[in-house]
Amino acid sequence: MNIEDLKELYQEAESGLNEALDLKTLEEVKNRYLGRKGKIAEIIKKIPALPEGERSLFGKEINVLKDRISKIIGEKQVSIQGSQSAKVKTDVTLPGSRFESGTLHPITLTMQKIARIFQHIGFSLIDGPEIETDYFNFQALNIPQDHPARDGLATFYLSDYRYLLRSQTSPVQVRVMQKVKPPLKILSPGKVFRPDNLDASHSFMFHQIEGLVVDRETNFSHLKASLEYFVKEFFGPETKTRFRPHYFPFTEPSAELDIACIICGGEGCSVCGRKGWLEILGAGMVHPNVFKEVGVDPEIFQGYAFGMGIERIAMLKYGIDDIRIFYNNDVRFLEQFS
Ligand code: PHE
Repeated sequence: MNIEDLKELYQEAESGLNEALDLKTLEEVKNRYLGRKGKIAEIIKKIPALPEGERSLFGKEINVLKDRISKIIGEKQVSIQGSQSAKVKTDVTLPGSRFESGTLHPITLTMQKIARIFQHIGFSLIDGPEIETDYFNFQALNIPQDHPARDGLATFYLSDYRYLLRSQTSPVQVRVMQKVKPPLKILSPGKVFRPDNLDASHSFMFHQIEGLVVDRETNFSHLKASLEYFVKEFFGPETKTRFRPHYFPFTEPSAELDIACIICGGEGCSVCGRKGWLEILGAGMVHPNVFKEVGVDPEIFQGYAFGMGIERIAMLKYGIDDIRIFYNNDVRFLEQFS
């Protein structure tokens, strides 16, 4: 046994290490050379048998050999581990992380859908205040102090009764006509408030969308045509409609618009209360008293107005049976709309 044998052993170890491509094989090679019963340990055992003058040099050479092999093993270990974790990083089959993205609220979406349909036939969008005065919410709309219609329009008053939370979007009609000379064709969506107890079909806050058209020679046929166009665009071309006489203080004549029940198609079911029809909005020709109040001459101009509840329209469209679900912020409900 001599120094040459050590060189050979080193080469052998080196090629063994080169072939080790995973940690398990590397461990085997390590044991084969550096282990307690490994090749180097065997050689060390034989040192005492060497001639005395060679022992010390041989011992040093063995240590050098040991260090070199250990170093290669260490480097190899790092590179195997590195390539394994690199593989994990680029594994495109692993499930990705999910990024939640928000969607518009179904009421906002419904409002936008309705608005888009009317914008198509020339209506412009306009805003109005949620805090109103008695004058705009009632008086100017031909609902004086002692008018019985006030009973049905129970209202939230603010501290000293000078202000109130609007109970309908109709005050916007008055605000617009005060400021803008006809012809007019406007649409005004927004929140309204009524002191109703919360149940499946009532909420103390909900949304309406108001429409108002003022022009020369405007008549009930224009009202009918616009609203029928809306219904067919929104609920589908086959949807049947009917106008039913009704009463509103600020329109004359007044009507409610029904659509054939979208659940039973007119047969009668629990959704339409066995009537086959669902009321979707109120409408009518602008009352001359309202025109007079805002300084528009009813001998020259006529107009029509309509108002609908957005929650109600959304509930019918999407088959929702409880209004409260709109306000609960339950993501499982909200994420179904986009
Ligand atoms: N403001 C009425 C309501 O809240 C709806 C309506 C608007 C009726 C415009 C006629 C004209 O019930």
